[in-house]
Amino acid sequence: MAIRNLRFEGDPILRKTSKEVKEITPKTRDLIGDMLETMYEANGVGLAAPQVGILKRIVVIDIGEGPLVMINPQIVKAEGTQTGDEGCLSVPGKAGQVTRPNEVTVRFMDEDGEYYEAEGTELLARAICHECDHLDGKLYLDFVEGELHDTVSESDEEE
Ligand code: NI
Repeated sequence: MAIRNLRFEGDPILRKTSKEVKEITPKTRDLIGDMLETMYEANGVGLAAPQVGILKRIVVIDIGEGPLVMINPQIVKAEGTQTGDEGCLSVPGKAGQVTRPNEVTVRFMDEDGEYYEAEGTELLARAICHECDHLDGKLYLDFVEGELHDTVSESDEEE
């Protein structure tokens, strides 16, 4: 596995629509492994393939409950709303308020090519919505309510 270079806001690739994954190849598995490593290295809770420059419909998420890999994810049901701070590894050091569904059902393919449905609430629902948006060239900045603010990392606070 390897850390991949993150793409940042302003990079046109983040505004493109990613392509459906038709077949899981060794290259797909390498990409997924690298995406997880890159997400953990950057202390993110989610990462979508276009954020490492690959226009494929693959997202990885870990809200602290273990890694989730979703290929061709599609939100099939969304209920309720939640408003809260959201950030993105492609927009470092910033966060802003975004309203999202509080509960989503997502259909996706796993690394073995099997399709599943999973439910997510609160932070997981937010992460699923955020990462799925990346696959359609959308950033949370498009929906942010009010001003962005700077995030302060724990290490900065200590220094
Ligand atoms: Ni993001």
